[in-house]
Amino acid sequence: MSAPRGQFSSNIGFLMAAAGSAVGLGNIWGFPTKAAGNGGAAFVIVYLLLAFILAYPALMAELTIGRHARRNMVQALRGISTGPISRIFANLAGFGGIVVASLILSFYAIVAGWMVAYLADPFANFFGMSGATDWLTGNSTGRNLTFTAIFSGMTMLIIAAGVEKGIERWSTLLMPSLIILLLLLIIYVLTQPGAMTGLEVYLMPDFSHLSPKLLIAAMGQAFFSLSLGVGTMLIYGSYLSQQESLPRLGALVTLIDVGIAFTAGLLILPAMYVAQEAGTQIFSASGELIAGPDLILQVLPALFETMGTAGLFVAIAFFALMVIASLTSSISMLEVPVSFSIENLGVRRELATPLVGLVIFTLSSLIIFNFDSLFGLIVSISTEYGQPLLGVALCVFAGWIWHRDQLLAELKKGHENIEHTLFWKIWPWYVRIVCPLLILAAFVQSLS
Ligand code: PHE
Repeated sequence: MSAPRGQFSSNIGFLMAAAGSAVGLGNIWGFPTKAAGNGGAAFVIVYLLLAFILAYPALMAELTIGRHARRNMVQALRGISTGPISRIFANLAGFGGIVVASLILSFYAIVAGWMVAYLADPFANFFGMSGATDWLTGNSTGRNLTFTAIFSGMTMLIIAAGVEKGIERWSTLLMPSLIILLLLLIIYVLTQPGAMTGLEVYLMPDFSHLSPKLLIAAMGQAFFSLSLGVGTMLIYGSYLSQQESLPRLGALVTLIDVGIAFTAGLLILPAMYVAQEAGTQIFSASGELIAGPDLILQVLPALFETMGTAGLFVAIAFFALMVIASLTSSISMLEVPVSFSIENLGVRRELATPLVGLVIFTLSSLIIFNFDSLFGLIVSISTEYGQPLLGVALCVFAGWIWHRDQLLAELKKGHENIEHTLFWKIWPWYVRIVCPLLILAAFVQSLS
């Protein structure tokens, strides 16, 4: 049989890993550009609210189920099921989680691969290798395959090393580096001409943007950013000791995630306007701020180029930040199918990791070869449909299917006097009724 189950060695280890999963491209790239396009601080406020009233309760459902079951999502949901129907539902949601986590990783690894290529570019530039520079920043299939493979390989190496020596060790090393890089970059960019205009665009609320569309964009962002629905947080919760308070740790993870997203906005928006000041076009032909790949792969590199030698260092710091953020998230995605292979199929971690990694890399390759038709489709299936629907399923499991006494008993572990907290009074009902309804309502809205 397989080796004993892994566990995080401390609550800091868990915190770094879970916050590492949450903080990713979604925070540094997704959040600031969505805020810029949706009324600046108006979006930020709605997002903050949703993160705490919707995403945090859903995160708690995953963490509580995971820590109780000490198993992957399929086993965990089966374990708390109470009859044949809920068991079918458990299989559907559990496998759904594995599929969606794998789909997310398949496109995430491509984007993260771009970040690795752009991290290598300033080095090639420094040594005057112009051929290499052109290849690294040109959007060729060969370049994309190479760097997706490199990034996937890095993800696999960490996961193959296990929970404590892989996930915990690397997250604890990488997360503080991420915060330091982010802060250094902000200080630098804020001293450049044009930065204040960017800050204004980010921080002046324009409430005329408030609409159902904005709500849905904010909810999708919150779900993606907190890595919800796909069993990532569930499996991390399953490696957490019962001496720790779940509501507190969950709240900290949410705070760190939201805090870093907000802080990333202080970098990205000012940087765009500094780029404009330096002569780069930052509005598209239709008058909107450039977002998506063009922002990260064109606007910002153009800005770094205008900064001379300092620009080389800034570029390295920026793309290192992106690679680190991606890596602590991608490992959490890969852990979902890998833990399933270990626990349900009895495959050793050292073997399960490259096997699953290879399947997902094949998926990424398919997307690379059919980029225009597949990339957007996979992003939308997994993040716009998969994550919210699975999020509802997990709330239903926590609120309706699982025995109430067991749920409450799990919450009590590691949290003395929890009965006197607001959390205790509200959450068990909230996750049962309000959470699923709110998510479903927003979901239905988004379909219309
Ligand atoms: N939260 C990660 C980000 O913001 C993405 C992610 C989604 C990670 C789902 C794990 C699971 O980039």
